Amino acid sequence: MAPTMWDERFSKPEYYYGTEPNAFVASQKARLKPGWQALCPGDGEGRNGVWLAGQGLSVLSVDASEAGLRKTEELAKAKGVPIATHCADLLTWEWPQARFDLVVAVFLHVNPEMRPGLHQAMLAALKPGGLLVLEGFRKAQVNYGTGGPRDPEMLFSAEALASDFAEAEVLELNEVLRELAEGAIHQGTAALVNLVARRPLT
Ligand SMILES: C[S@@+](CC[C@H](N)C(=O)[O-])C[C@H]1O[C@@H](n2cnc3c(N)ncnc32)[C@H](O)[C@@H]1O
Repeated sequence: MAPTMWDERFSKPEYYYGTEPNAFVASQKARLKPGWQALCPGDGEGRNGVWLAGQGLSVLSVDASEAGLRKTEELAKAKGVPIATHCADLLTWEWPQARFDLVVAVFLHVNPEMRPGLHQAMLAALKPGGLLVLEGFRKAQVNYGTGGPRDPEMLFSAEALASDFAEAEVLELNEVLRELAEGAIHQGTAALVNLVARRPLT
């Protein structure tokens, strides 16, 4: 794929968002089961996918950034865990259907007209009963400047996520203010929205 701005960011030796998992993802540890098949769309340099692999899950990390995927593989090697990676544009990718027990998407913001379709693809990639864990910046983040897209149209709201995942069973959906400490960029108070949802069994 053609290099993106993410390739430029991820081509430096340091990990842009650090190597520890996102705090909301880590907070979901009790829900995870070793042996689960997990998909991490937009996994960047792999901090979340590699952490999930460390919990005994079998992880596929998909991202448009080759540089990010290389660092994902390096991080997995350093931690001694296996991970599968795939380079693709998630907006045109042929998403697997009903394949995964878990989808984890963190700070994956796209143009607003593409967002509902992308979120529906995440849900359809889950097996019936599978879990989605998602965190992103919400509209109020324009007041904080601690990361995320500058264009407010690309930011989430709980209402938009409830609509995108209307077919799912929502287990958690919260708009929060949290102190981010993720790499050099995500530092300080941030306006976030997070979601845990289950694909219905039928
Ligand atoms: C803000 S970074 C977050 C990375 C990672 N989820 C994390 O929390 O550390 C957004 C990531 O989404 C990826 N991304 C954005 N749009 C994408 C698309 N259409 N297809 C594939 N990857 C995409 C970027 O390459 C980047 O790695």
